[in-house]
Amino acid sequence: MIDRSTIERILNAAQIVEVIQEFVPLRRRGVNYLGLCPFHNEKTPSFTVSPAREIFKCFGCGKAGNVVNFIMEHEHLSYPEALKFLAKKYHIEVVERELSQEEIEKQNERESLLVVTAYASRQFSENLFNSDEGQSVGLSYFRERGFRHDTLKKFETGYSFEKRDAFSRKALADGHRKDFLVKTGLSIEHEDRIFDRFSGRIIFPIHSLSGQVLGFGGRILKSEARAAKYLNSPESEIYHKSRILYGIYQARRTIIKEDKCYLVEGYTDVMALHEANVENVVASSGTSLTREQVRLIKRFTPNITMLYDGDPAGIKASLRGTDLILEEGMNVRIVLLPENEDPDSFSKKSSNEEFLNYLNENETDFIRFKINLLLEDAAGDPVKKANLIRDIVRSIAVIPESITRTIYIKECSTVMEVPEEVLYHEVNKIRQQRSFRDRNKYPGPEDLPVPPPVITKKVKQEVTTYISEKEIIRLLLKFGSHEFERIIRKEDGREEVTTVADYIVREIVSDELTFDEVIFGSIFEEFRFASEQGIFLEDRIFIKNEDPDISMLSADILAESHQLSRIWVSKHTYVETEDMKLRDIVPDAVLKFKGDKIKVRLQELMEELREAVSSDDMERIPELLKRDQALKAALGIISKQLGNRILL
Ligand code: CTP
Ligand code: MN
Repeated sequence: MIDRSTIERILNAAQIVEVIQEFVPLRRRGVNYLGLCPFHNEKTPSFTVSPAREIFKCFGCGKAGNVVNFIMEHEHLSYPEALKFLAKKYHIEVVERELSQEEIEKQNERESLLVVTAYASRQFSENLFNSDEGQSVGLSYFRERGFRHDTLKKFETGYSFEKRDAFSRKALADGHRKDFLVKTGLSIEHEDRIFDRFSGRIIFPIHSLSGQVLGFGGRILKSEARAAKYLNSPESEIYHKSRILYGIYQARRTIIKEDKCYLVEGYTDVMALHEANVENVVASSGTSLTREQVRLIKRFTPNITMLYDGDPAGIKASLRGTDLILEEGMNVRIVLLPENEDPDSFSKKSSNEEFLNYLNENETDFIRFKINLLLEDAAGDPVKKANLIRDIVRSIAVIPESITRTIYIKECSTVMEVPEEVLYHEVNKIRQQRSFRDRNKYPGPEDLPVPPPVITKKVKQEVTTYISEKEIIRLLLKFGSHEFERIIRKEDGREEVTTVADYIVREIVSDELTFDEVIFGSIFEEFRFASEQGIFLEDRIFIKNEDPDISMLSADILAESHQLSRIWVSKHTYVETEDMKLRDIVPDAVLKFKGDKIKVRLQELMEELREAVSSDDMERIPELLKRDQALKAALGIISKQLGNRILL
């Protein structure tokens, strides 16, 4: 953990324009800077950086935040990682909070293992490029397969000597501890002797997102029938097969740029695609795709294209992962290569241009792919066709987004010549069964009968107070410290000029109202505390808040109102600026807030009444009715106060 004072020093040092300019070319425009948004595709710049407010906001896609948020979003880093990134840029030493004993041990172990894997990776690479055995056995193998020198370097490939304990001995001699060598799986202990897991193999290091070596894949060179073609590191504190994608480190930037990720099966496929100039590619490395792997890709793009061998095994493999991807709300496309070709072999047979054309021309949406594939099989067989429809409907049913489901249903209906209504019916049936199962928390058989429609109580709030809550927060952030020209009459009859923040806090606290939205609530609490202590709060405090939710929200709110005034000015129409109208705007917002709160309360009351009636709880009814009356009266007063200005 980074301690508070260091965080403050980093935030004070970081110049938002300077930092962002490293990633996005910015041009000065008045007091702000303008550039092409790095978070979405655009041709005319709508990405604005305000050095005065120390925020950025894109008016195209809506992303907004402070300098730390920018680094988090752009570099896909966590909050502490982003802070460290900035600390490094501004040469600030990061002092971390002391960790608990348990945390220290865990971290130490992780770090020790990473030291060992980094060391091993260097050794293997050294062996491959600079030893006689490495060059004549390993390097010549890579060359024979047509891999370029720069690609081998880029992926830090290596070679492990044939001698059964060459690596382990060297590592021990270089001072590495045996238990760490064993835990990383680089060495295997057997009856007091120690052996190398990867001896005689070429090595593919597997990197984390930030380029640390987590584990290895080793390919055998001789075609021994008995030994596995590939060996991989075993699971350890640092290597979790299901969470790792080979090539993600080398691919991440291009995945973002192309907004698409190719998925292949093997190490050599990834490397071959890089040589064909396709750098947005990762491999699941032999295992079937896991949800964690899908989510890892989702951090960079919602678009996955699977690239598989055109043989039956490849086809089956490609189908296995699709539902998982669809369930995450992502888009899946599939490219099938000619039979008996994998991406590696096929890319080497064609020129880069031909290869890319092939990818683009053969990319099929998964549903069309599945239909075409299975339709051939089912031709003329009504039973098979029915099964096929069921199969596809099941895939469509896992898609969380209803618009996407609709599109797929339309497509499926056209291709399969089945009425849309039939498909809708089937999809909804499956979704209903699923939600029924989820509600009951135990897995049911696949073909559970459709449950009778459940009569759900109307617990859903119809009125939401989000908008009026947000308006209060906006006014606090933007005008909190402004003097409020509305005179407040105190209980003792004195009249007093106050600030906007004091006024709002007073109004809300005296009516004992609260915020439903958690972030709004915590921002309000800050103002309430400050108001009680008689301090002014600046919007900067919130923009620089260490909770990214708060900093992004306040940057967003403040940038929005900034944008508004810009529009007004550019239209050359005289519009009273907001701060000239505070004496109306602020009380109206407070009234609206109170009115909404009452409406929600009325709704809840109605629900309680309904319950009381249906359970024959007659004693409660008069009391509830009385409260209902009182709230309605209050609402009437508020409406009157708001007059005709705002329709409640
Ligand atoms: N794999 C594995 N263990 C095996 C076989 C395969 O872990 N015994 C993984 C490897 O990550 C491999 C991927 O599955 O890269 C795909 O396997 P395969 O298609 O057999 O190998 P290729 O990647 O084509 O390797 P090569 O071209 O070197 O034969
Ligand atoms: Mn291959």
